[in-house]
Formats: sequence, structure tokens, C-alpha cells
Amino acid sequence: MSSSITARKEPDVVSESESFAGHPAGLRTLFFTELWERFSYYGMRAILMLYMVAPAAEGGLGFDIKQAGFIYGMYTMLVYMGAIPGGFVADRLLGARLSVLVGGVIIACGHFALAFPQLPSFYFGLVLIIVGTGLLKPNISAMVGSLYGPGDQRRDSGFSIFYMGINIGGFIAPLVCGYLAQSGEFKKMLMSAGLRPEGSWHWGFAAAGVGMVLGLIQYLVYRRHLCEVGLRPQKTTGLTAESKTPLTRQEWLRVAAIMVFFAFTIIFWAVYEQAGTSLNLFVDRLTRNELFGWQYPSSWFQSLNAIYVILLAPVFSVLWIKLGGRQPSSPAKFTIGLLFVGLGIAVMVPASLLAAHGKVSAIWLVLVYFLQVIGEMCLSPVGLSTVTKLAPGKLVGLMMGVWFLAASLGNMLAGCLGGFFDDKDPHLLVMLFGSMAAVAIVAAGLLALLTPSVRKLMGTVH
Ligand code: PHE
Repeated sequence: MSSSITARKEPDVVSESESFAGHPAGLRTLFFTELWERFSYYGMRAILMLYMVAPAAEGGLGFDIKQAGFIYGMYTMLVYMGAIPGGFVADRLLGARLSVLVGGVIIACGHFALAFPQLPSFYFGLVLIIVGTGLLKPNISAMVGSLYGPGDQRRDSGFSIFYMGINIGGFIAPLVCGYLAQSGEFKKMLMSAGLRPEGSWHWGFAAAGVGMVLGLIQYLVYRRHLCEVGLRPQKTTGLTAESKTPLTRQEWLRVAAIMVFFAFTIIFWAVYEQAGTSLNLFVDRLTRNELFGWQYPSSWFQSLNAIYVILLAPVFSVLWIKLGGRQPSSPAKFTIGLLFVGLGIAVMVPASLLAAHGKVSAIWLVLVYFLQVIGEMCLSPVGLSTVTKLAPGKLVGLMMGVWFLAASLGNMLAGCLGGFFDDKDPHLLVMLFGSMAAVAIVAAGLLALLTPSVRKLMGTVH
């Protein structure tokens, strides 16, 4: 996942007529592969928690919420932690291109394992998705980076387009998988076909697998557009750096700055990723999921973040360009990110108080996610590019791994915190959401105080 970010031989040999929105044609291949991979990831994730806590009579696993939250937390933690060995395997053995292919095949097998109702195949499926995603996710991001030469101005814009692909997948997936898993209509269809309606969850999981297969077909058909990118393992740089030259004092300071961002990013994801756990359960159990008299599946709310990203990403990219030199520094953007994620979850406090008197309007969640995505736009894409700028050349891969590790630990905390959810105890919910809001907002305040020192650590990087 590493060196290919910094090292690129020649510009693309594919003709301009085959370019993708003014970018190398290989970006299209990676864009659609990642779109379908994220479709499979978020489609499955939208129903995972709900499937685990659903009673056996409804086809679920009948786990209690704590146990489900723990498994969810472990799973999402390991999925992103896999980026570290996954990047290593690409650098040393397979090269990024083959790692993405092998990873995708393993992911698809994982989702198809979940399509079977037995408990062992459930756990086996989770393990396969963890291994596959570790191989695919970091290496496909690194391949995006290596489509561009070192001075190519289009790199950041290429990453923004790629981030859109992620979210288009994340938007459609809960609609498709959630509909199959939860809707009464699909259950009726199953019944009229002579199949068990409680098996609907597994059709949702299978759909995730089909999405990954589509991504793989596309990846193979358009692989020639990738030219040389990711073809060979890189043995000398990146995560596997064996260079003996020690880091300079300035490089050490920059690594220290990354570590500060790392710590605050964990808090960000722990709160933000409540989307898949406590907020998902809140929507399922305490919200009126009705539009003009029609009951929609609760998991559809999992699409909201993605649609907000699709709408807001262009706004933010224009905003940053307009502000130019006057735009906030990276630590200041991180501060704003933490503040907004805190404000978002704070909205759940009055929503939970109201829920004591019966189901609440879905508008609350519409507002929560809106605030949280503003936070995401200030932190997530900014973080990725800041890490690549701050990391000493030979440590780019390792530092990318650190970035994924923050997401990984944040997701684990999100699962464990979400495990405290109890729809019968609104006061507990007020405490739960209130303390998450407090931690995020206090962390934002702390980072604001630290900003001048962090800027010093960053040296000439903005
Ligand atoms: N939406 C992002 C994605 O799916 C979330 C994420 C950020 C995941 C950072 C991993 C690391 O790619």
C-alpha cells in the first residue's frame, strides 16, 4: 500500500480519449472496483447488527445487544486492521494489483458464506471478509495514488473522485441489501416462491456478494487501463523500508504530528460509526419509519451518510479552493471535524428524551447525520492527504497503516459503546449519547489548544 504512492515511472500510455473525467483511465477501473467493494461492505454492514439481534423466530441470531455490539466492534476493527498485513503482502509478495484481485475474490466468498444460515458459516464469512478487505482496501487506495506522477496537480482531485465512488457504493447498498433483508414485500415474494421468509437476511448478504463479483468482473475487463500500476511488489521502500538512514529531527517531529492526529481520529470514528450500531438500533426500534404511509426498512437510514457525502463533497472542494491560502490548517480542520461529530451526536440527547414517550420522527436522524458528515468532510479526506504529506518518504506505507489503524480502533470502540444501547431505558440513552458528545466536544477544545504546537511539529506542511 506504500511505495506505489510515492513512486511512479511514466505517465499513462492510454490515449486521452480513454481518460476518465480528465484523469488517467485507470481511475475508472479503480473507481468502479472500489464502488462495488464498498457496496458489498456497507450493504452487509447495514443489516449485520440487526441480523445478530433479531430473534431466531425472525431468522436472526438472537444475540443480546452487548454480544452483538462486541462482535460488530471486533469485526469492523479487524477489517481495517487488516490493512497493515494487507499492505505488507502487496509490498513484499503479490504487488498491489494482484492483492486487490485476490482480496476481492476472498471478500465475495465471505459474503456468500453469510448467505448460509448456519452459525459456523456466519463466523467463517466474517473472517473471509476481514482477510479480503485487508488485501483490497489499502492497496486500491495506493494504486489511485500511483496513477499520478509526483508533481501531478490532479492527485487530490483524483482522491476526491475516488471518495465519491466509495460513497455511491455506500449509498445504493443499504437500499438493496436492506430491502431484501427486511421488507415485507420481499418476504411475501419468498413465501410465494415456496421459500422461508425468515431467510430474507441471507438474500441481503448474498446481494453484497453479487456486488463484489460485479466489481471483480469490471476490474478484470478494464485492467489494461491500469498500465504498469501495481504490477510488481516493491521490495525496497514503504512499509518494508530497510533503508539504514535514520530519520532527521524534522521527520521525527512530523511523525509526532501524525500521532497527535491519530489519537483524535480514534475518538472521531468511535462517535461517527455509531451509525452502524446504536443509531441503527435507534432507527429500528424508536423511530417512525414511514413516508407517506409507506413503511421503509430501517436499514435504509444507512444510506443517508453516503448521500450527504456525495452532495457535500463538491461543496467542500469548492470551499477549500475558494479559501485558498486562508483555509484552516489541518489541525484546525480536525478540530472542526470533532466538533461537528460531537454536535451531531448531541442531537440524540433530546431525541432520546422524546423517545421515552413513544417513537420519534426520523427527522432527528436526518439532522444528526447531516452534522456528522460535515465533520467527516473536514477530517477524513483531509486526514488521508495530510498523512501522505507529513510521512517521511520511506514511511508512507506504515503511516497509511496508522491511519487505517485509527479507523480500526474507532470502529471497535463504536461497537462496544453501541452495545450499551437499550431501547427500554431512555435515560441510559441520554447518558450514552450525552457522554459521547461531551468527549468529542472536549477533544475538539483540546485540539484547538494544541493547534499552534501541532503546526510547529508540522513544519512547512500546512
Ligand atoms: N467511508 C470511508 C470508507 O469506507 C470510511 C473509512 C475512512 C474507512 C478511513 C477506513 C479508513 O472508505
